[in-house]
Parts: sequence; structure tokens; C-alpha cells
Amino acid sequence: MTRTAFETAFGYPPWRLFRAPGRINLIGEHTDYNDGFVLPMAIDRAVWVAAAPRHDRQVRVRAITLNEEDSFVLDGLRPSSRVRWSNYIRGVLAGLERAGHRLGGMDLAYGGDVPIGGGLSSSAAVEVAVATAARHLFDLDVSDVELARLCQQAEHEFVGTQCGLMDPLICLAGQENHALLIDCRHLTWQPIPLPTDAVIAVCDTGKRRSLAHSAYNERRTQCEEGARRLGVAALRDLDVQTFDAQADQLPPLLRKRCRHVVYENDRTLRAAEALRRGDVAVFGLLMNESHASLRDLYEVSCEELDWMAALAQSQPGCWGARMTGAGFGGCVVALVQADAIEPFCQTVAMLYERQMLRKPAIYRCRAAAGAGPVG
Ligand code: GLA
Repeated sequence: MTRTAFETAFGYPPWRLFRAPGRINLIGEHTDYNDGFVLPMAIDRAVWVAAAPRHDRQVRVRAITLNEEDSFVLDGLRPSSRVRWSNYIRGVLAGLERAGHRLGGMDLAYGGDVPIGGGLSSSAAVEVAVATAARHLFDLDVSDVELARLCQQAEHEFVGTQCGLMDPLICLAGQENHALLIDCRHLTWQPIPLPTDAVIAVCDTGKRRSLAHSAYNERRTQCEEGARRLGVAALRDLDVQTFDAQADQLPPLLRKRCRHVVYENDRTLRAAEALRRGDVAVFGLLMNESHASLRDLYEVSCEELDWMAALAQSQPGCWGARMTGAGFGGCVVALVQADAIEPFCQTVAMLYERQMLRKPAIYRCRAAAGAGPVG
């Protein structure tokens, strides 16, 4: 479909097709920009981009799902106030050039099945898809970590979200059947095998949010202020005991925010340990605790997410459930016993619709490989 759309838009077949997956985060939320730990996995939903190089400096982009087009030259790239979706692409290409990677023009057509604004990192998937296309089209010598940083920078400068590195990194480095425990300070990661007898269900509340929303940036500033007051470079530097001993130096709001981050880092390490020894029950309890903390201390949940998480958690065979991603809307991720997944999906969908008067999308996800060329 992406190839055909390319051909229809530009009148010739693409050179190659690239894929960049969406992601869910199993645990470790709002810890990445605090130099902490996250445990995400790439999923079997993706953005596909069909691409061909050009002999000039022109870039033409066809956004298949949005049924829109944009066109710009690589020189003096700026964010567009008119075509907002194009800023993810402009930002990545501008960053690559600024880092000294010589690009040429290109024609791109992209689309996919990562729901837009659904908390599954559709924006990082678009950025990484385009970065991956540019990497292959122009034979760039660039590491995954450098590419992830460029994608992050594109969000900072062209979109306005002060996001962390988790999303582009997992999108690039994801491994089939594994989550990655990422150390966001040292930018190293370890694959953690997922249990074979549990299914990961993504429960989309249908509530959409804008990530550029100031609440995200505000949380980040609060964490930095908390770290400064406690005399550490980042909240990652505090363990639970040290934090508890010093927490009363912080005003109440900062104390809540920082407590979430410090405890979430601890939970993430314990959760990875639990998965390693196959203790899905402990993993599930940590997911539930993470949700409560995001709701009560970090205050990034919402009625729809809370309702979905509570419904999921109370189903037979559900080990644990929590909101995933930045929050304020989007999806809940649940870990469910394989033989309980059918009734789980049906009951959660029915009860959610009854309460919220909105049909949720609930689907199973597999852990997929990171971005790359297709075929
Ligand atoms: C968004 C950001 C990530 C991360 C999460 C919260 O997805 O892009 O960097 O901060 O929110 O964990």
C-alpha cells in the first residue's frame, strides 16, 4: 500500500521501503529525562516509508493517512506553522545535516497503523522511519544512539516537546520477543525476554492528547528543580532511602513529583529482575503500583486511563496494568495470562464502553524488531 501510494504520488516506483515500529513502555514512566531506567518494547505496529533519492535538494513528502503533501528544500530548514506533521520530518533532516551528514533531496510517502496521538509513539516512529530511510539512501555512517538523539532534538526544536530518548531509542533498537532495560544515562541496554505464557494487551482509551502540551514540559522542569534542590545532577542519583531521608526539604508539589521518579526507577529495576526470574506476578504488581504513582504523585493520568487500568486490573488472569507513555490520554498496557485473553478483551471493552460511552480498541501486541529496510 505504501509503495502504491508512492507511485501514485510521484509517478515512479520507490527505491526502497523502510519500517519503524511504535512502542509500549512496560514500566519506567517519566524516568528517561531524569537519566533513569525504562523498560519499553517495540511493537508489531509501525510506520512504513517508501523512499527514493533525488538529484537535487528538494524533499517531497506524501502523508498517506492524512491525505496531505508537503515539499521543501534541505537548505535553511525551519519548522512549518502550516503543515505541522511535516515538522517531525523537517526536524530530523535538519538535524542530520547539522551533524555533518550530507543528504540529498528525496521523495517520501509514509503511512502505517500506529494510532496518531495514542501514546504508542507514533511521532518517534515517523522520525525514525525517515531517519532510517536517509541513513540507507545516502549511506550515512551514524549509530543508533546518534540517530535517536537527532530524533529527540527534532522534537525539542521543531515540535516543542522536551521529550527524553526512550521512544526513538526503542524504535531503533527493539528486539523480537524482548523488552529492553535501557539505562538512559549511559545509553546502554539489556534485552529482557518476555514471558511466553502471558500476552500483552494494549487498551486504547480513545482519548487523544497533544504531546506538545505544556504539562509534559512542566513536569520535566519540576524534576530538574527537585534535583537541583537536593544537590544531585539528576533524580537518577537518588535511591529510595536517600530520597526519603531528604524529601522534607522539598515543597509538597516537587516532593510528589520527585517521589514518583525515584520510586519508579526502583520499580523498573525490580520489574526487570522479576521478568528475568520469570516472576510475572511480581512484575504485574509493580505495573499496578506504577499506575497509582503516575495518577496520584505525578498526576499525568486522566479519568479514561484510570478507569481502563482499574477495569483491566480487576479481570481474572490479568497480572497487572498501567498507563503507558506520557499520559493525559492514550493507552493502558496489560499483562494477561494467555488462556484468559479472549474474555479479558471482551469484558474490558464492554465495561469501558458502558462507563465512558466510547468504544475502546483493544489488541494484543508482540515485541517486534527495531527499524530497518523491508525486503
Ligand atoms: C513520552 C516521551 C518519552 C518519555 C515518556 C514518559 O513518550 O517522548 O521520552 O518521557 O513520555 O515516560
